[in-house]
Amino acid sequence: MKELNGKHILLGVTGGIAAYKSADLVRRLRDAGAEVRVVLSSAAARFVTPLTFRALSGHPVPTELFEPEAGSAMGHIELARWADAILIAPATAHTIARLAHGLADDLLATICLASSAPLALAPAMNRQMWCNEATRSNIELLRERGVHLLGPIEGNQACGENGPGRMLEPEQLVRRLTGLFIPPYLAGVRVMVTAGPTLEDIDPVRYLGNRSSGKMGYAVATAAQQAGAEVVLISGVSSLPWPDRMECIDVRSAIEMHEAVMQRVPRCDIFIAAAAVADYRPQQQSKQKIKKDLSHLKLELVRNPDILADVCALTNGPFCVGFAAETERVAEYAQAKLDGKRADMIAVNRVGLPGSGFESDENMLEILWPGGGTTLPRSTKPEIARQLVELIGQRYKQTRK
Ligand code: CTP
Repeated sequence: MKELNGKHILLGVTGGIAAYKSADLVRRLRDAGAEVRVVLSSAAARFVTPLTFRALSGHPVPTELFEPEAGSAMGHIELARWADAILIAPATAHTIARLAHGLADDLLATICLASSAPLALAPAMNRQMWCNEATRSNIELLRERGVHLLGPIEGNQACGENGPGRMLEPEQLVRRLTGLFIPPYLAGVRVMVTAGPTLEDIDPVRYLGNRSSGKMGYAVATAAQQAGAEVVLISGVSSLPWPDRMECIDVRSAIEMHEAVMQRVPRCDIFIAAAAVADYRPQQQSKQKIKKDLSHLKLELVRNPDILADVCALTNGPFCVGFAAETERVAEYAQAKLDGKRADMIAVNRVGLPGSGFESDENMLEILWPGGGTTLPRSTKPEIARQLVELIGQRYKQTRK
C-alpha cells in the first residue's frame, strides 16, 4: 500500500514557469500509487510539452476543449467524473481569476466546473500579482467555496524578486494532496513528535551520533497533521526539510531535546517519541579540539535522561507512544520497553535488516499496547506513518473515554 494507492488524480498544468516542476510532480504522484491524467492549458503548452506529460503519466494529454483527435482521449465530462481529486499546479493568477468567476472557456476550467471532486490549487506567480487586491479576493472567494489552497511559499522567484508566490515543491504537494483524503479524526488534538538523532558533542568538531535520518518521525508528524492534529515537531539534527504548517523546534543533544519536550508537553494530548535519543553523552565536553598526543583515549560517558519515560511518568500526562529499534528478540524487548517505561503503545522497528529501519524509505512495524498488538506490513514510511497514526488515534480515544 502507498499513500495515494489507486487514487485518480487529475493534474492541471497552467502557464507559469513553475510548470517545469509539474513533470516531477507527475512522477511523484505515481510513485505514491496514484493514477495521473494531465491536462495542459494552451499557455502551459508553451512552457512544457504534452509529450513530456504523456510519457510520464502514460496517458494522452489533452490541451483543447474540442480536440482534433476527439475520441482518442477522455472527454471533459468523463475526466471530471474520473477524478478523485483535481490539482492545478502551477495555478496562475489568470487561472485563479477564471475559476473564481466560474468561466468554462478552456478544457481545464470546464472540467473544474463539471467535477464534484475536491479541487486543490498550487498558486505560482510574481509576488505583486499574488498580493494584488484582485488576486486576494479571488483566492478568498475560492477558499470560501471549499477549494484547497496549497501554498504558495515565500522565496526567490523566476522574475528575480523575492517574496510570496513560489509554488510548493512537488514533494510537499504530494503530501498536502494526500491529506485531502484523510478525515480530520484528530481535529482539536495536540500531538508532540520527537524525531531524528541526538548528537552528543565530544569537542568542538566531534560528536557521538547515530544513523537515524528522521524520516519516520517526520512522516508521523505529517500524518498526524494531515489527520487534523495541531503538531509540534521536536527534531534532532536532520537534513530533511521541516514539514509545513506545524511548529518545528530543532535541538542537538538529548539534554536539549529533554528540555524542549518537558517545557511543552503539558499542553499535549499525545506524545510520540520517534527520536533516536543517545542513551549516553560524554561526561565532559572538551572546549578545545582533542589532539592525538595520547596513545589511548578514554571517553567517560554518563546516562542521558530518558525523555519517553519522564513523559510517561507525568501525572495527567499525554497518551505516550514509544519506538523501539531492535536487532534481536524483538517481541521480548519491546514488551519490556512497554512495561518498563509504562507507555501506552510501542512501535517496534526491526533494524539491521535490508530495506527497513534507519535511512531506508520503507519500513514495517510491530505495534504493542497493554493487552494487544498488531503488525503494519512493509510499506513506504508515509503510508506506515498514516496507519500508525490512525491506530494511535483509535487507542487514544478508547483509553481516554
Ligand atoms: N527514548 C527517549 N529518551 C532516551 C532514550 C530513548 O525518549 N534517552 C525513547 C525513544 O525515542 C524511543 C524509546 O524511548 O521511543 C525507545 O528507545 P530505544 O533506544 O530503542 O530504547 P532504550 O530505552 O534506549 O533501550 P535500549 O537502548 O536498551 O534498547
